[in-house]
Amino acid sequence: MSSAIRAVEQPEWWKRHAIYQIYPLSFQDSDGDGIGDLAGLATRVDYLAWLGVHAVWLSPVYRSPMLDFGYDISDYTDIDPVFGSLDQFDQLLEALHRRDIRLILDVVPNHTSDRHAWFRESRSSRHNPKRDWYVWSDPRPDGGPPNNWLSRFGGSAWEWDPQTGQYYYHAFLREQPDLNWHNPQVRAAFADVLRFWLKRGVDGFRIDASAVLAEDPLLRDDPPNPEFDDKMPPPEKFRRVFTDARPETMRYLEEMRAVVDEFPDRVVLGEVQGGTGRIGQFYAGERPRFHLPLNFLLLDTQWDAASLSGGIDQYLNAVPEGAWPVWILGSHDKPRIASLVGEDRVRLAAMLLFTLPGTPILFAGDEIGTPNLDMSGREPRDPFEKRVPGYGLNRDKSRSPMRWNAEPGAGFTQGIPWLPVGDGLDEHNVAKQRDDEHSLLSLYRRLIALRQSDPALLEGSYEPMRCQDEVLMFRRCHKARQLFVALNLAGEEREVRQEISGTILVSTHLDRCEAIVAGFHLRPGEGIVLAVAEQGQ
Ligand code: NOJ
Repeated sequence: MSSAIRAVEQPEWWKRHAIYQIYPLSFQDSDGDGIGDLAGLATRVDYLAWLGVHAVWLSPVYRSPMLDFGYDISDYTDIDPVFGSLDQFDQLLEALHRRDIRLILDVVPNHTSDRHAWFRESRSSRHNPKRDWYVWSDPRPDGGPPNNWLSRFGGSAWEWDPQTGQYYYHAFLREQPDLNWHNPQVRAAFADVLRFWLKRGVDGFRIDASAVLAEDPLLRDDPPNPEFDDKMPPPEKFRRVFTDARPETMRYLEEMRAVVDEFPDRVVLGEVQGGTGRIGQFYAGERPRFHLPLNFLLLDTQWDAASLSGGIDQYLNAVPEGAWPVWILGSHDKPRIASLVGEDRVRLAAMLLFTLPGTPILFAGDEIGTPNLDMSGREPRDPFEKRVPGYGLNRDKSRSPMRWNAEPGAGFTQGIPWLPVGDGLDEHNVAKQRDDEHSLLSLYRRLIALRQSDPALLEGSYEPMRCQDEVLMFRRCHKARQLFVALNLAGEEREVRQEISGTILVSTHLDRCEAIVAGFHLRPGEGIVLAVAEQGQ
């Protein structure tokens, strides 16, 4: 079966361990300015170790004007003062490594900030040696932009530069000009950026907007999107055939991977939006690309048993033979899982994340059930919402500060947090849930530990079963070890009739560990992982 995961002798660290994404602006403030920083993060390393985290993905901390909250970089080899300094970065890295926690840095090769020295030079004159480091083009004869390409953040993707009489291309904000990846000097400069951090000891990268590095050199118009209607955000009007997943992009990803492979034991994650169908090509072509092209299925699917079961199969079938799957349950770009599936099913979501085959990625705050931040009546911070308003795109909702306790400021800051802390603070905070052996946080901790230590979860095959009345079921098998997972997505109790006996290893409610002989009940929103008894036992 193509969805079976081949057993490997010694899985690499990025297969063995869950990855915990930290949005640094919102994790821990140390100086009272209401913005998270590296010194603050360093004080939470013990928490990460307690939770059982062995790999962190850190969203950008480079120098940035912060128009896209760090994804607009003005210096790739320095830390923004709002976060601290390079010295503090080195200290943090050392502290993490001391606790056996790896660090994966987010890098943004597709675009820089318009305040990056490269762009300042490039826009200074048509004859500047760095002119061709960005994507410049003459206007159409009528003076309009070169073609119909649209920015994901609204309007034309072309910005007029009156001083030099040309347009430059930006896939995102006009303040985020795209680098010209066809230019070998750009690729060499970026390879040096990667080496700069690899030599400092980082354990890998998450490559931002990885599918859109290269643009069609002919600058052909994008075709209309046949699915487009007025209810969809205007940037979706055309299909991005000529800027997305171009063959040259794949070659450039291979080059980046080769740079990372100069250093042992590192990992490359890649942001791949646009559905699971195209995931396969991001693993490898003739040469390796990503170890882990990110998979957003669990955030993009409907949460019913058939949609999940079907989506999981489709995704696993799209993962090439021998490649390793990966699952994301939250991110700084998507709504919070607790709000997406509802509080009554949030434990099921956690259990699914850690029992599917492949590397689980969780987003800081999801382990305490942080809900979406309600921004109604407030001025949005997110530039996406500001420029494409009214389509529910505001990403502020998932970026609220981490809640460490129930005090004002949530233990995140002594000052005024840059985004409100949000609702449900009394319930959803680390201090409260840490001492409660039945809390969601305790469930996460248990699942993290279980997945790390159980060979069937870590590297066993995935064997789907027929869903029964909204109960999603599958097995994970490794040699004689067999686990049976059942997740009740229905809003009411369900009887699971299966000729299976064994012992409950963990239940979503952390209150059952009984032996089961043929059949059992699941409460609404309850799931279990059962160690199936070997025959004759
Ligand atoms: C993807 C990042 O995840 C998102 O936050 C950002 O706005 C865009 N890339 C543009 O850099």
